[in-house]
Amino acid sequence: SASLLPVLALQVRDGEKVLDLCSAPGGKALAIMQCATPALLCCNEPDPHRRDWLAKTLESFLPQSLTSKVIVSAQDGRYFGQSEAVTYDKVLVDAPCSNDRSWLYSCSSQQGEQRLRERARLPALQSQLLRSALSAVRPGGLVVYSTCTLSNSENYAVVETVMNDCPEAEPEDLWEEIAIPLSKYFAFSPAYPGHGQTSHKPSLQQQNSTVSSYHRRLGILVVPQPGKTWGPMFLSRIRKRK
Ligand SMILES: C[S@@+](CC[C@H](N)C(=O)[O-])C[C@H]1O[C@@H](n2cnc3c(N)ncnc32)[C@H](O)[C@@H]1O
Repeated sequence: SASLLPVLALQVRDGEKVLDLCSAPGGKALAIMQCATPALLCCNEPDPHRRDWLAKTLESFLPQSLTSKVIVSAQDGRYFGQSEAVTYDKVLVDAPCSNDRSWLYSCSSQQGEQRLRERARLPALQSQLLRSALSAVRPGGLVVYSTCTLSNSENYAVVETVMNDCPEAEPEDLWEEIAIPLSKYFAFSPAYPGHGQTSHKPSLQQQNSTVSSYHRRLGILVVPQPGKTWGPMFLSRIRKRK
């Protein structure tokens, strides 16, 4: 399923310390434990009900031999990078987004306005979570940022904003690594939509060379197809320079 792509992109190896910053209900945490045997997987979830759900998932599906490797944490992910700076080899930020099922299905009419206000604040929350992840990862380590929305303001724009003020962060090319090899199975959107409001318009020549390859590295988007159950899914991988 497309939801495994962020875990694939994270490239977890045996013995690594891994942080799953937005972990409930734990689907990707379980997938991480199937890819490798990390020294530690910290599953963080601030929402108490969703954290219970996460704990139940781990209890039910994690083999006994692995339970000592996994811990559950309850922090606000925005401040995790301060409390555990430069601690992890890999960090997954599977961010809350406007397409989450909790948004789609628990929306009574009186909650509507509240929801719209929260939705407007999502890009700020998402970029704070990504910055926090970049603080928590060691130099040379990897952060994967993913969402389940098609919204550019929650995808490329978040990554671009954070890249603009984190010189130590370097986005990596998932187009060659994931989109091309898996294009038989998933429909990936071509590249950066290129309508940033803040940046000036690059010349056509720039667009075709350096700018487009940089923008391509800001992330890839799996687009939903009729008759298929997966997508949307955005993912971006960022390496913290040594
Ligand atoms: C898309 S879901 C994560 C799904 C999960 N990774 C999985 O694969 O099962 C996003 C999660 O982020 C949590 N979240 C919301 N605000 C957060 C914050 N400030 N810090 C960390 N997590 C947060 C939500 O409660 C929600 O459980």
